[in-house]
Amino acid sequence: MAASNKTFDDVKKTLLSVNNLTKARDIIEFYNTWAESYDQDFESLDYHGPRHVANCLSSGFLGDRETARVLDLACGTGAVAELLKSMGFKQFVGVDGSKNMLDLAAKIGLYQDLKECMLGYEPLPVQAGWFDVVVIAGAMAPGYVPVSVVREMCEVTKPGGYVCMGMRASCDNLEYIVELEQELNLMEEARLWDRVEVKEKVSWLKDDKEGGRYIPGVVYLYRKALQ
Ligand SMILES: C[S@@+](CC[C@H](N)C(=O)[O-])C[C@H]1O[C@@H](n2cnc3c(N)ncnc32)[C@H](O)[C@@H]1O
Repeated sequence: MAASNKTFDDVKKTLLSVNNLTKARDIIEFYNTWAESYDQDFESLDYHGPRHVANCLSSGFLGDRETARVLDLACGTGAVAELLKSMGFKQFVGVDGSKNMLDLAAKIGLYQDLKECMLGYEPLPVQAGWFDVVVIAGAMAPGYVPVSVVREMCEVTKPGGYVCMGMRASCDNLEYIVELEQELNLMEEARLWDRVEVKEKVSWLKDDKEGGRYIPGVVYLYRKALQ
């Protein structure tokens, strides 16, 4: 990977500028141009999102990892799949709106299939009830993946399968999280799934150069009803 001469503040500014965009298409365009330096830039932010999602799923998952079909939504360059692979999972399908992020995900050689899709704006291009696991890290926020997509995540999961969602819980994402929690609770009341675990206030990414402060994150793990 080519060395970057960007400072921590440069990368943080880039992240803030994408997070300030409100139109999904603009966000995807931004990721298309960011793709080449995404991994390196997120490393400099000490981004822990994929690790929290992978750990939360791994600690709650009771099935056979080798045969479990994993759907990685907003997969980006594939960080979540890489971690899940090291935890014994082997079968991955990735979905993202950014062609350039998907091209990089293809290079890690873990995904059996990669699909370009604007989540929330196009139907999820996978079969209902097909996946043992659905994961999404770092893409549930205003302008990114709308809350309505949680219903689709549940639909494409097998009865007894798992859905694990991780996101930043910074001030700019709190309204989104309130809306999400309402939807998650409604789905639980409708007996579509049960909450297995919620991990709050996990360190999501560095807020200052020294790493003295971290932006918090939250991770939810649900298990779909057996029906
Ligand atoms: C911060 S990256 C996270 C990538 C990966 N999950 C990770 O944790 O490293 C956000 C990803 O969400 C994708 N994304 C944002 N909004 C999307 C949408 N509505 N539909 C599909 N992908 C979206 C972007 O293209 C980008 O790859």
